[in-house]
Amino acid sequence: MAEIKTIAVLGAGTMGHGIAQVAAQAGYQAFLYDVSRDLAEKGVRKISENLKLGVDKGKVRPEERDAALARITPVDDLEAVSRCDLLIEAIPEDLSLKRSLFKKLSELCAPTAILASNTSSLSLTDIASAARGPERVVGMHFFNPVHLMKLLEIVRAYQTSDGTVQAVRGVGTRMGKQMIEVRDRPGFASTRLGVALGLQAVRMLEEGVATAEDIDRAMELGYGHPMGPLKLADLVGLDVRLAIAEYLYKELGSDAFRPPQLLKQMVRAGKLGRKTGLFLEIRSRDRISGGPLRKNQPAWAPALGGRRVRLGNLRLLPWLR
Ligand SMILES: NC(=O)c1ccc[n+]([C@@H]2O[C@H](COP(=O)([O-])OP(=O)(O)OC[C@H]3O[C@@H](n4cnc5c(N)ncnc54)[C@H](O)[C@@H]3O)[C@@H](O)[C@H]2O)c1
Repeated sequence: MAEIKTIAVLGAGTMGHGIAQVAAQAGYQAFLYDVSRDLAEKGVRKISENLKLGVDKGKVRPEERDAALARITPVDDLEAVSRCDLLIEAIPEDLSLKRSLFKKLSELCAPTAILASNTSSLSLTDIASAARGPERVVGMHFFNPVHLMKLLEIVRAYQTSDGTVQAVRGVGTRMGKQMIEVRDRPGFASTRLGVALGLQAVRMLEEGVATAEDIDRAMELGYGHPMGPLKLADLVGLDVRLAIAEYLYKELGSDAFRPPQLLKQMVRAGKLGRKTGLFLEIRSRDRISGGPLRKNQPAWAPALGGRRVRLGNLRLLPWLR
């Protein structure tokens, strides 16, 4: 396989901008693509903010920040990424959307270009089957926030060649990631375990077993998780979580993945976690007692069944804020 020098990231959202950041910090020329120039540039602005926080905290040298930013180009034209050696897709968790992008990319790019997906759960084998040259398709599953999380889960589709895996392992090493390699099964290793826990936590919140804060504390203090399952769902995005739960429920048929009503309601109400409204804002105690709504309740509270809300505290992610 030819040496990888240029990386394109498709989708400049939560994950895409983070992947472009670590690519640029690892010394690759990086292109950040989204459907509009505005969105691509917004992604670069988030990278710039992240790097600024890194400099303020003494974790990134100012010259490293400047060099990384100089290596990133925001684009909204697929032609602009057609010469890249590695393309990493981070668009919404929707199989038909991903298949259609992989088909396009595989026709547009050189036959030697590697096509990777950051999907959290979808079948890589299915995505690869839409591409010309499916042996160069592989899963590169990064974690949020990408610049802080060490794990990179490499997912081998049925068609993925050893050379492709070897090449993306090289990239992961240069990005400073620790890697695990998994077979293409719904939810791989990380998402299957993590989402089962997260959905159970939402059901416990619905049942009123404990407050959101205490459910999180149970895992943080009792099991040593750095972040409780509800905080994590808020960080990932409730829309992303719901899409994954629906897919895993369909594929694995296990009740562990049946999407809880509360999760569906929050997404329907446009409350998507950190982006908008948090699980951690729900006082489950008030919900059980059906207590009266307090003053200053946000307009979206009725959509959640009239529960009182308050601001959550995400102290665990000082760098991200
Ligand atoms: N959010 C997480 O914590 C997390 C963690 C690991 C993996 N993932 C996976 O990463 C992927 C992206 O998730 P996200 O949370 O970054 O989503 P997001 O909604 O934050 O970002 C998606 C971006 O893709 C863009 N987009 C939509 N259609 C596009 C297209 N056809 N071409 C290019 N760009 C397009 C959107 O404009 C948006 O900017 C999903 O597959 C998700 O499962 C997410």
